[in-house]
Amino acid sequence: MLTGRNILLGISGGIAAYKTPQLVRLLKKSGAGVQVLATASALKFVSELSLATVSNHPVLTGIFPSHEAREDEYTRHIALGEWADAFVIAPATANTLARLATGLCDDMLSLCFLTLRPGKPVLIVPAMDGHMYDSPSVQRNLATLRAQGCRLMEPESGSLASGQCGLGRMPEPETIFEALTGMLAAPEASALCGKSVVVTAGPTREKIDGVRFLSNYSSGKMGFAIAANAARRGARVHLVTGPVNLPTPSGVERIDVESAVEMLEAAQPLFGECDLFIGAAAVADYRPEAPVEGKIKKNEAEMEIRLVRNPDILAEFATNRKLGQLAVGFALETAGGIDYARKKLADKKLDLVAFNVYDGRTSGFEVDTNALTLLARDGGVTELPLLPKEEAAARLLDAVESLLPR
Ligand SMILES: Cc1cc2nc3c(=O)[nH]c(=O)nc-3n(C[C@H](O)[C@H](O)[C@H](O)COP(=O)(O)O)c2cc1C
Repeated sequence: MLTGRNILLGISGGIAAYKTPQLVRLLKKSGAGVQVLATASALKFVSELSLATVSNHPVLTGIFPSHEAREDEYTRHIALGEWADAFVIAPATANTLARLATGLCDDMLSLCFLTLRPGKPVLIVPAMDGHMYDSPSVQRNLATLRAQGCRLMEPESGSLASGQCGLGRMPEPETIFEALTGMLAAPEASALCGKSVVVTAGPTREKIDGVRFLSNYSSGKMGFAIAANAARRGARVHLVTGPVNLPTPSGVERIDVESAVEMLEAAQPLFGECDLFIGAAAVADYRPEAPVEGKIKKNEAEMEIRLVRNPDILAEFATNRKLGQLAVGFALETAGGIDYARKKLADKKLDLVAFNVYDGRTSGFEVDTNALTLLARDGGVTELPLLPKEEAAARLLDAVESLLPR
């Protein structure tokens, strides 16, 4: 199944490391070449000899070669970044997650994480005590890695090494193996492979004066997840984003803008050549008609700001597109509103609308999950459950693929 594929397996120092020789065996059995990169802590939990034997390669830990090193060993980290078709990190400790999220690279695992070529799939399998996993620092690092395009596997619930029962167990090697083979399914199998995709994401900022603006709560997470997933499917992706605090997903070309007008100006030159436009940005509908230079002083008891309509970027694309170009939009409402989404689909002649409700907790802006209802141009309705945004993005792109001409 993985014949000819090369896998970097990063192992960090969690108790679940004892399961990794079995993962190596599964990978080898399916025909993959495996290079194990174990942290020094990992080797306290699993034997180096076992890993070297089952992978048929020495295990790499430190970055500095020995005195007797061959010439090619000095730049081995770079060669491995090119050699690998995928990188699995299992188990990923809280410590390793933090190091990967911040770009530290003082051992072979973290160094190769940086040399891995853009667009190559990364599967991270965190495993730790449930309280550690839920801590804000770990969650922040996971969000950073997710936004970079890494696929994260949720830890499972069950009995833990601590003797307690709860969330934190590493999934079994068979489950990890299955997830990896799914990610490595030939990109040619995706209708998006080789296609050009433009995604807009995030909020826009509409200037009131030199220090103030109108905006909304969009975090950009949904659009970034879509861009990351499309790139993994082999698409060439341009991501035009308003101000967000997210790293660029690997393999994605990013253009930063502030206002709706700037977003249109950045996206418009890409319209002609793209096969698919996905408007996931929360573009402000209105902007102040006459933004003031400098800061407005508080002289009056009341003030009025006259607003004018912003350009409708998605409609602009949809009405001027060529035959075969697909247009996908989002409709976010605070309650109900599916009829509005249907109207948007029809009025703008879109191919698909992803309708979601903003409830301020689990779905819509800022949070990491979303519950989408996909309305297709042929009347098809697919109600997706509440999913991590990466998963929701994948399901959205599955639906888009079925509409793309092969
Ligand atoms: C017995 C024991 C078990 C541990 N299990 C875990 C674990 O499951 N997950 C985790 O994130 N850290 C765990 N730790 C803490 C890590 O080993 C520690 O943070 C270490 O610095 C990780 O280094 P590394 O990320 O470079 O491998 C454990 C520590 C001990 C002593």
